[in-house]
Amino acid sequence: MIISALPSQRGWMTSELKQFQGFWLDGWVLPGVLSLQEKFRGKSDQIILTSSPKSGTTWLKAPLFSIMNRSSYDFDVVDNGNPLLSRNPHVAVPHIDFYATEHLDDPNPDLSLLSTHLPYSLLPKSMIESGCKFVHVMREPKDVLISLWHFAVEVRRAMDLPLLSLDDAFDMFCSGFSQYGSYWDYELEYYNASLKCQDKFFIMTYEDLMERSDYSARKLASFIGKPFTAADEDRGMVEAIVTFCSFDKLSTLEVNKTKTSSFRKAHVVPNKVFFRKAKVGDWKNYLSDKQRERIDQITRQKFQGTVLLD
Ligand code: A3P
Repeated sequence: MIISALPSQRGWMTSELKQFQGFWLDGWVLPGVLSLQEKFRGKSDQIILTSSPKSGTTWLKAPLFSIMNRSSYDFDVVDNGNPLLSRNPHVAVPHIDFYATEHLDDPNPDLSLLSTHLPYSLLPKSMIESGCKFVHVMREPKDVLISLWHFAVEVRRAMDLPLLSLDDAFDMFCSGFSQYGSYWDYELEYYNASLKCQDKFFIMTYEDLMERSDYSARKLASFIGKPFTAADEDRGMVEAIVTFCSFDKLSTLEVNKTKTSSFRKAHVVPNKVFFRKAKVGDWKNYLSDKQRERIDQITRQKFQGTVLLD
């Protein structure tokens, strides 16, 4: 496949997005996607966190990692060897699509918890056929757009790319030209896949996670086959993990305030860009009534007849 020949659109974090198998991706991830589709070896005991960018990926990585490794670490903020104290959640739980770009010959990290932004239809067949479990997090599209735009502004500034106005970002998002977009087609694919295989998918929303954090953590633990025990409950483990993974705690850790992470060579990102405001409904501070109506109308039309509208 010749990547440069694929249809392109203006990019958010890079100069252009490429259309690949119906979705818009940064061109640099495509070699990794092809490698995954050909060489990834799925494992039935793997947990895969899936999400459209800016839906709460950084957040979910922390409780997933914490729940899975709770017998090894404590969840207070004194240094006790917990990797989340010294590394950004994206380093503790790598994105398989970014990892693959650096490991084209063998994109198989020896880890039981991985994450990806890839749309469901682009996932390696071997991953789906392995019978592994998927945790999917989604978020209100207007908040995704605002979060994505802020992130793009930061990245573009660092990369000396021209400014991206909110009006342009809005039009790009609504037209489906966003990273791994269209947002709506992306979410519909995961929703439809979950209907076919309900025991393999756990779909969470950012809003629900915010409102019912303890409840969500318990559900998450049960789904991944590591339910909290009575002893865990007695020790206050659920509350400890939820508090440790909260925005206020994670965003104020030294590693997330002042350090950087490298996701591929020449792609070093300050960890603080993954933590902005974490407010449900922040879009109200940015979008006009007309813009809100346009985006809501697309959502109604695309998600019609699904529980995604609830
Ligand atoms: P905002 O830009 O609205 O603040 P992702 O991790 O998928 O890129 O999503 C980033 C969004 O999640 C950002 O939203 C970020 O602030 C928010 N976020 C990061 N860590 C969080 C946490 N521990 N709790 C709640 N929200 C968090």
